[in-house]
Amino acid sequence: MSNIKFYKESNLPLEMHKVRIVQKLNLLPIDQRLKAISEAGNNTFLLRNSDVYLDMLTDSGTNAMSDRQLGAMMIADDSYAGSATFYRLEEKVQKFFGKKYFIPAHQGRACEHILAKTLVSPGDVVPMNYHFTTTKTHISLCGGSVVEIFKDEAIELVSNNPFKGDIDLNKLQQTIKEVGVEHIPFVRIEMGTNLIGGQPVSLQNVKDVSKICKEHNILLMIDASLITDNLYFNKVREPLCQDMSIAEIALEISKCADIIYFSARKLGSAKGGGIVVDDVALYDKMKVLVPIYEGFLTYGGMSTREMEATAIGLEEATDMDMISHGPEFIAEFARLLTSYNIPIVTPPGGLGLHINAREFVGHIKEEEYQSAALVAAIYIVSGARGMERGTLSEERNPDGSEHIASCELVRLALPRRVFTLSQIRYIADRLAWLYDNRELIGGLRFVEEPDVMRFFIGRLEPTSNWQEKLVAKFKEDFGESL
Ligand code: F0G
Repeated sequence: MSNIKFYKESNLPLEMHKVRIVQKLNLLPIDQRLKAISEAGNNTFLLRNSDVYLDMLTDSGTNAMSDRQLGAMMIADDSYAGSATFYRLEEKVQKFFGKKYFIPAHQGRACEHILAKTLVSPGDVVPMNYHFTTTKTHISLCGGSVVEIFKDEAIELVSNNPFKGDIDLNKLQQTIKEVGVEHIPFVRIEMGTNLIGGQPVSLQNVKDVSKICKEHNILLMIDASLITDNLYFNKVREPLCQDMSIAEIALEISKCADIIYFSARKLGSAKGGGIVVDDVALYDKMKVLVPIYEGFLTYGGMSTREMEATAIGLEEATDMDMISHGPEFIAEFARLLTSYNIPIVTPPGGLGLHINAREFVGHIKEEEYQSAALVAAIYIVSGARGMERGTLSEERNPDGSEHIASCELVRLALPRRVFTLSQIRYIADRLAWLYDNRELIGGLRFVEEPDVMRFFIGRLEPTSNWQEKLVAKFKEDFGESL
């Protein structure tokens, strides 16, 4: 714990960087925000960023880059094949994960595409701690299905469990017994676990799962897209990791897995992705797909500049000063919201602050998309855009009914080194007002509903004139211009 820095008196997180490049932001008046969200079909993915004050949609590709990353981009070697940039990145990836073979891909879901195409056959079942939207879709498109084997506490939103992302070992054993080894192409651990609030997985759990997989000859795959925050939590929450460096923890985790993949939009704070393995036969099987779907084997759809930035970003992901920033800001955000009694996921995880929409707007019917309604309301009252992480992000059941999500969340992502504490205080203040006026928030219904991953581009409308009423009350309290 000795190298974690806090202001001594106030317990505030202390940035170990300074800001040297800035971007101007707009904060539109509330009438224009109402117009913008209506034109975006009440879907924050469809807002224009110029209409957004604080872009808390995601940390994907939006972390601030360091001077070293920007500098490295200038020496990128632009060649289709055999670029020096690729070999520099390959070396850093090999060092970070301690594995031999690196397959580049343009982002995380592209890795999932290659992995699913290579490993999943119709009828296969993939056990995992929790699904991620793109992962599940790629497995389904190959005829497979997902079974979630998280511990029961994983979806208890208020908890003291430091590792809610852990796999339930009994459920894993049971699944193997029921499904049969021959129908399980791999077990997947998502580190940390996105859809339950960026909750981490312990090193001990990875070791235990690995042991079971080895006993049954099943491949263990780790999705390391969110590993940066997970490593921080391993270090500060897990006694096993107390005396290890961040680089050592990463290697120890990696040692347990047969396959690791990552989105470099997250890990590496740039844009891109990749798969790493030790097994040459597996590498050979996957590498032939790269020129078909991604690009040549030495760039995999990434720009060489982003590859240089990722190489440095991976190095920086082993620096406690860098990786502590996100979780400590999220914890501070959580402290503020808790002081206003706003229901949030605890303990605070990585990636962003997660609000429990099921409790915040429990008066809205579950079929009217509580999280989506809340995230639209947050934009209207603050200009900040978050992301719906609940029922709208699920697919309907085969009979057309809604599949109600186990966690109904709104995520306010904190891209690293991007926002200040005063901006966090601003959004916390608006959330406090919204919480006091939560009865004014109403439901949403689809007007355009895509069949697959509807949350990305689906369009919705309010089920009543609740948004106008919310704006009227806001103006009463804050005046016209805010
Ligand atoms: N795995 C996890 C755990 C992720 O969080 C993501 C992306 C992916 C895979 C896919 O990676 O976007 O590079 O294709 N999560 C983003 C988010 C989209 O906002 O949480 P990608």
